[in-house]
Amino acid sequence: MNYIADSQRYKNMEYRRCGNSGLLLPAVSLGLWHNFGHIDVLENGRNILRRAFDSGITHFDLANNYGPPAGSAEENFGKLFKDDFQSYRDELIISTKAGWPMWEGPYGDWGSKKYLVASLDQSLKRMKLDYVDIFYHHRPDPETPLEETMMALDLIVRQGKALYIGISSYQPEEAEKAFAILKELGTPCLIHQPKYSMFDRWVEDGLLDVLEKDGVGCIPFSPLAQGLLTNKYLHGIPEGSRAATHRGNGAIEEDALTLDKLDQIKQLNEIAKARGQNLAQMALAWILKDKRITSVLIGASRPEQVTDSIGCLDNLVFSEDELSKINKILK
Ligand SMILES: NC(=O)c1ccc[n+]([C@@H]2O[C@H](COP(=O)([O-])OP(=O)(O)OC[C@H]3O[C@@H](n4cnc5c(N)ncnc54)[C@H](OP(=O)(O)O)[C@@H]3O)[C@@H](O)[C@H]2O)c1
Repeated sequence: MNYIADSQRYKNMEYRRCGNSGLLLPAVSLGLWHNFGHIDVLENGRNILRRAFDSGITHFDLANNYGPPAGSAEENFGKLFKDDFQSYRDELIISTKAGWPMWEGPYGDWGSKKYLVASLDQSLKRMKLDYVDIFYHHRPDPETPLEETMMALDLIVRQGKALYIGISSYQPEEAEKAFAILKELGTPCLIHQPKYSMFDRWVEDGLLDVLEKDGVGCIPFSPLAQGLLTNKYLHGIPEGSRAATHRGNGAIEEDALTLDKLDQIKQLNEIAKARGQNLAQMALAWILKDKRITSVLIGASRPEQVTDSIGCLDNLVFSEDELSKINKILK
């Protein structure tokens, strides 16, 4: 059936300015790392994207290597985009990335100009797009001069293949250097995509300060620690969950759920209940309470999870007492 987006879609979403830029992003964005590959059910992916857009999520995040197999999430997104979202292109922010292994030989990995430019050309073909809104360097490359990688990002914007550029998983010092180079080139960095959740708080040790100082937005990935910070693992590892399906590629494994973790999850769950939220909603609200955060980048295996997670926006305020109890649990 032809898709017509919900006319109420902009009513309940909050939009935040991305750093010092002109771009607003939804406080909750959707990533297609899992559940959109050729191994997955395409119609489920369609329903997740429709639910997200109907709820005001205007930002979909991809990468060249998402799948599996690598490239298939972009291919599937291309199909769904053509069917459902083509007429909404100007209401959408679509991101992709390159930086992890993608093809054989010396030009399909890391951060050379050769890799980044070729990879984005491939991504655009797979997604059937003329341009992406944001193109990221997916991870720092210790071997390639930072100037070359940043010049490649600048070139891509000048070619009209991306409107904005971002970096992912760069440490504060290397991020600052990248921002300075990009500023000089005339293509300021829009956004940084780091891993950040209650269980992984490294960005609090300097990165968020650097981003604020340089006017760069922040979109944390895996804010639910891939599902650990939800109520799904409270009673063991359910069938079909990410931890049970052995997806590789950095996905959580069964042994991530140690007894200590489970104990923390149970205690956090009690605080969430007292706030009138579930654990997923509290975990997302806890990140969004910081105004330096532009958007939380969630994943979802079902449309209902999208709706559930967006519920975080109903309560983003934490009392001092709640924060100190949470800090104690996370110590
Ligand atoms: N830049 C990078 O290097 C990088 C790395 C990783 C990810 N990312 C980006 O970040 C996005 C999100 O990462 P992620 O998928 O790890 O995020 P996440 O939000 O931490 O985890 C998503 C998973 O949590 C479970 N879940 C989500 N909402 C739930 C809810 N309301 N209740 C119960 N369970 C829920 C689902 O697991 P089940 O499948 O078990 O149902 C879902 O697949 C990716 O799609 C990608 O775009 C970027």
